[in-house]
Amino acid sequence: MTTQRSLVLVKPDGVSRRLTGEILRRIEAKGYRIAALQQRSADDELLAQHYAEHVGKPFYAPLVAFMGSGELVAVIVEGHRVIEGVRALIGSTDPTAAAPGSIRGDLASDTGEKVQRNLVHASDSPESAEREIALWFPTA
Ligand code: TYD
Ligand code: MG
Repeated sequence: MTTQRSLVLVKPDGVSRRLTGEILRRIEAKGYRIAALQQRSADDELLAQHYAEHVGKPFYAPLVAFMGSGELVAVIVEGHRVIEGVRALIGSTDPTAAAPGSIRGDLASDTGEKVQRNLVHASDSPESAEREIALWFPTA
């Protein structure tokens, strides 16, 4: 077994809706291990680095405003093929399109706002996972 790490964020909508436990329960129930966890807020500089690939897109400014609007929970999750596995657990970006059974499909609502309030972030590749873990957990 090759252990992989992924960076998961329970976004401010997940924290304010008291869904942190439910989201992490699903990840743990799948067999992944929580290796580190921190509830915190994020400033624009950290969010600009985290979402560097999206700078300049029409949803970027509302995305950063939303992500900075309250505390979030940053988590390092470990397991075999965890990056792909957690992406499957969370479902598609768009809450309406996300499959029932997935975290976003079951729990996220389309608010009609410009930014998708979709409860959770998860790394999408080994490269982004290592980059994001270094941003959120500089000592891990
Ligand atoms: P993205 O990395 O494409 O999605 P994911 O979170 O599934 O990896 O986009 C990052 C976040 O930006 C996404 O979770 C919500 C927001 N977003 C929008 O608000 N509108 C959009 O059209 C897209 C693509 C993303
Ligand atoms: Mg992404």
